[in-house]
Order: sequence, then C-alpha cells, then structure tokens
Amino acid sequence: MNKNFSDVLIVGGGAAGLSLALRLAEQDISITLLSKSELTEGSSLYAQGGIAAVLDSGDDFESHIEDTHTAGAGLCKDSAVRKVIEGAPQSIEWLIEKGVKFTLIGGAEYDGEDSEYHLTREGGHSHRRVIHAKDATGREVATTLEQHVRAQPNVTILENHIAIDLISSQRIEGDGKSRCYGAYALDIDSNTVKTYAARAVVLSSGGASKAYLYTTNPDTSTGDGIAMAWRAGCRIANMEFVQFHPTCLYHPYAKGSLISEAVRGEGGLLRLPNGNRFMDAHHERAELAPRDIVARAIDYEMKKGGFDSVFLDISHRGRDFVLDHFPNISENCRKYGYDLTSEPVPVVPAAHYTCGGILTDLRGRTDLKRLYAVGESSCTGLHGANRLASNSLLECLVIAEAAADDISQRLGNADDEIPTLPEWDESQVSDPDERIVVSHNWDELRRFMWDYVGIVRTDKRLERALHRVNLLQEEIVEFYGHFRVSNDLIELRNLATVAELTIECSLTRKESRGLHYTLDYPEMHEFARDTILTPNNFASHAPIREWDNT
Ligand code: FAD
Ligand code: SIN
Repeated sequence: MNKNFSDVLIVGGGAAGLSLALRLAEQDISITLLSKSELTEGSSLYAQGGIAAVLDSGDDFESHIEDTHTAGAGLCKDSAVRKVIEGAPQSIEWLIEKGVKFTLIGGAEYDGEDSEYHLTREGGHSHRRVIHAKDATGREVATTLEQHVRAQPNVTILENHIAIDLISSQRIEGDGKSRCYGAYALDIDSNTVKTYAARAVVLSSGGASKAYLYTTNPDTSTGDGIAMAWRAGCRIANMEFVQFHPTCLYHPYAKGSLISEAVRGEGGLLRLPNGNRFMDAHHERAELAPRDIVARAIDYEMKKGGFDSVFLDISHRGRDFVLDHFPNISENCRKYGYDLTSEPVPVVPAAHYTCGGILTDLRGRTDLKRLYAVGESSCTGLHGANRLASNSLLECLVIAEAAADDISQRLGNADDEIPTLPEWDESQVSDPDERIVVSHNWDELRRFMWDYVGIVRTDKRLERALHRVNLLQEEIVEFYGHFRVSNDLIELRNLATVAELTIECSLTRKESRGLHYTLDYPEMHEFARDTILTPNNFASHAPIREWDNT
C-alpha cells in the first residue's frame, strides 16, 4: 500500500499546473499538487504583457498562425500551432468565466456583451491581439486560478515541497516498458523526503532560465521537470532555443525586472545612449520585430559601441497614458530611480524563456507512460526556434485542457495497478560538510552559460562550456551520492543537467536559426529539423514529423 496516493500528482503551481488541477478537480479526480515554494511562485505570476488570442473581428486565425510560424523561423509544428491558436478564444472565455478581469477599452467595468476588451500589441504580431490585465496579467490569472484550486476539496496542496525524481517501473522493477508511478519530493520545512504515488504524473514545473546569470525569471525556473524527465528516460528537444527578452531594466539591484514588450507595442522606441534609434537598420518591423532579432540587435549595438545598455523610451506617449497602461512597470522603474513617463530607461537582454523541453504530443503525453508535461517544461512544437510573444500562457491553458481530457479518459478505463513504491534511501548519506561548494558551483554554471551559451555562439565557446559543465557534473554526482539532499543541491543538479542539454543541442545544430545564432554557421539550412536528445546521449536531427504522434 502506498501512503501518499492520489489519482494525479502535479508538480508545479503555475498557469499550466493550476489550470490542469482545476479542470481535473471539477471531475472529482483526486490530486496532489506540489510546489517548491509558495503555491503560485513561478514565471506565470510575473507575466506582464498578456495572452495572445484572435478576439477582434478584423483579425483571423490564419494571421496568428502565420505570425507564430514566422517568429519560429520555420521550425514550428503546424498541428501544434493550429491547435493552440484555434483553442485560444475558448481558453480566454474559460478564464473570464473563472473571474479573471482583463482590461477593458477605456478602463470601464465589464458590462455584458457590449464591453470590449483592450488588446495590446507585441513584437512579431501583425494585429493587436494580446488580451491583458494592465501590465500584470500573470498575477491576475494565477491568483484567480489559485482561489478556485484552493477551494477544491479533492486537491491536496503541498507548498515548499520540491520534487526530486520520478519513480518509474524502470527504476524499481528494471522494466523496459517504462511507466511512471510517482515521485520523491523533499518537504523543505521538515527536511524529509516523502514518496508520492499516482496513476498519472504531470510535470508543470516551468522553464530553465535560471541556468543563466541574467534572467527575467523567478528563482523557481531551474529546469527541474526537464532534468527529472531526462533521468527517467524521456527525450528532450530543441534546448538550444533559449529566448532572451530584449528589455530587462538595467540596474545593479533590479534583479530580472522585465519591461514588457507591450511598451514597444504601444509605441516605445529603442535608442542608443546618444538618443538615436537603431532598430530600423536591423528589421523592417523595427522595435516590433520578433524577439530574437531585437535581442540580437541590442547585443550587437552594445558590443559595437561598448555600451552597458541601450535605452527604451515611451515618454512621448505622455504621463497619463504610460501610468494608465503600465502602472506596475512604471512603479518598478521609479523604485530604481527611473521615470518611465518622462525619460528613456536603460535596458539589456536577459534569458527569459525555454522554447525546448520534454518532448510531448498535443495532449501533453511524454515518452513515459502515465507521465505528462505541460507548459514551459514541455516541447509541443508550438514555438519552433523562437516563441512568439504571449503565446506561452496560451499554450499552458490549451494543452492543460487537452491533457486533463486525456488523463480523465485514461483513469476511467485504465487497469493501472501501482506496486508499493520503495521509500527514499538515506542510509548511505550524511549531512553535507561544505555547503559553499553548492553555491560556488551554482554561480560558476550561470556565469559560463551567460558567457559561452548566450545570444551569439561559436563551437569553441560551446566546447568550453561543455568541458566546464562536465567537470561540475562530476562534482555534483559525487556530492549527491554522499550527502543528504537539500533544496539547493536538487536545483543545482537539475541546472547542470539542463545546461548540458542546452549545450549538446547547440553543438548539434550546425546552422543559425531563430534564437540559435552561431558565428561558425551563420546560414540557415533549407530544411528545418528538430534537435532531439535521447537519454543515451544520442543526438539526432530528426525530421519534424517523427514526433507528430497526435
Ligand atoms: P511556472 O509558471 O514557472 O510554474 C512552475 C511551477 O513549478 C512553480 O510553481 C514552481 O515553484 C514549480 N516547480 C518547479 N520545480 C519544481 C519542483 N522540483 N518541485 C515542485 N515544484 C516545482 N508569457 C506570456 O504568454 N505572456 C506574458 O505576458 C509573459 N510575460 C512574462 C513575464 C515574465 C517576467 C516572465 C518570467 C515570463 C513571462 N512569460 C509570458 C512566460 C510565461 O510566464 C511562462 O512561460 C509561463 O508562465 C510558464 O508557466 P508554467 O506553468 O509552465 O511554469
Ligand atoms: C512581455 O510582456 O514582454 C513578456 C511577454 C512574453 O514573454 O510572452
């Protein structure tokens, strides 16, 4: 008998995990939801710009689909693009039904059918189609979903519980046809590792941008789910496509303060320190070019001119407009001594989004039976080589719905016996003698990823990074084998794994495409291929259709 058993174990309480939990809970399915910090702490909570959806009569699905493919540099999987984009209006309606308050034109109160939502614009979109809650869309979505999930009697929420590893039939029975039975997780408050059994397990644990020194992401984005899935035998794809957001506030204490792309969507201009604009020399859409192009242009101008930053200027829209549209961003800039309403503010690119991840189909199913991945930890094929702005929350919502349907159907007719799972074995480990090793390794890793696996790459830099990560891995494995696990050690081990996967994928791609730009291979190949890594370290440039198993 397994002590901690539920129908479904969900790892992560962001937009993906919460919406999935809610959809399943409403069908009377029992759920355990683990979150390694407070329930909603994660990228979703900090999302600013909004959610892309075709909601305006002058817009259409084909246009949103085309923009997604263009941003994705020919690598998006068309079936994923269509499913997510065509599912968008329904997902937005679902959020509104749940009580999410999106901003209306003129800031009016919602007043039935005649109320019109304000749609903003972001880079790469040919229409205004981003629905939002001022400049704090993620907070509005996450806290509304949180209230509903907390009210469900059949959801057990365990905060400060960090999942360590998946438990598969392979792990406990040496069985080749691997199935997932649950996970081990550290209860951070009591410092004990517990075993969780479930008939289906979902990884909704977010991205891996903390592998970089400078990032817009909160501390939770350490790629835990991607690393766990990899260790459990799942294929991982397209990790070379790390999205750098072009405009992060540049200030020594402003850790990862994003300035939304919607600021450029509403007229914000990028300027050099001398006040000159530069984006029109890089792309016909200037400030509203796809994100990879804007980030690369900023990187280029900063290196060419020897500048610490470039500047984002929306002061020409006037104080009232800026405060009305971007109240939180303005306040954050003010905290660091900048007035967004009246002056250009310094900005730099920072790691923002993991386009690759655990390979899934369009119902979130992974290579391991009974294991699902949803949200930023997954790779459905939607984003290709570069995610279109505001398509991420959307993917979380649409794929969570599809995964919930698949899980509930499967639970209805599955004969899924779960053996008694072994408890976590701590008999061979002791308390760590030097915690400093972990923090040093953590810093080193994030720094060399920034220096060698950043916006512009070369084989030589990537080889250097690989060499470093291999050395770190050896130390981490040794440390892990001898000492009791801690939150920091679990995350460091996962960061090292996702760093290695990112470097391996980058070395495999001998072309420049979307977010992967290398001086050694500046051209783009005629045919687009995914980079797929399998856990025996075999990298293949498999054709896209290989994993189109929907
Ligand atoms: P997250 O929201 O990151 O949630 C992951 C959850 O998993 C967290 O609760 C975390 O604590 C938990 N977790 C992780 N590892 C473990 C573990 N080992 N054990 C237990 N729990 C774990 N996208 C848009 O579409 N529109 C936007 O406007 C937008 N703005 C953004 C602004 C910022 C500043 C950032 C950082 C991102 C933004 N994005 C935006 C991207 C988008 O927010 C994320 O891609 C999306 O929210 C990811 O959702 P998720 O549920 O997959 O992961
Ligand atoms: C932003 O508001 O610029 C972030 C949007 C996104 O990452 O999709």
